[in-house]
Amino acid sequence: MGQEDEAVWTRVCRADEVPANGMKAFAVGGTSVLIVHTGAEFVAFQAMCPHEAIPLEQGIHDGCLLTCLEHTWQFDLKTGAPVGEAEEGLTGYRLREEGGAIYVALE
Ligand code: FES
Repeated sequence: MGQEDEAVWTRVCRADEVPANGMKAFAVGGTSVLIVHTGAEFVAFQAMCPHEAIPLEQGIHDGCLLTCLEHTWQFDLKTGAPVGEAEEGLTGYRLREEGGAIYVALE
């Protein structure tokens, strides 16, 4: 339990800057982070597709699967794991919402 508190949380944006059921990329320090609103919660992943560095923000998601429209690689929004033809998964970041803002732990 105590371990959780040792994470360094970096503020990303206000929760209402991410469209409902949508997603948006933000620069957090030197890292581009994609915040996805799945409908039920917010999750955070690397912002670029691991295939050819296309912004995943330009793709689509249905709350469960994120699809990069460039070559339709798909990723599980719970885990970042590759689905179907995708050969690599996404790096995910722990996320927390507090006081109407979204924070991620980038380590
Ligand atoms: S760049 Fe995303 S699937 Fe090819």
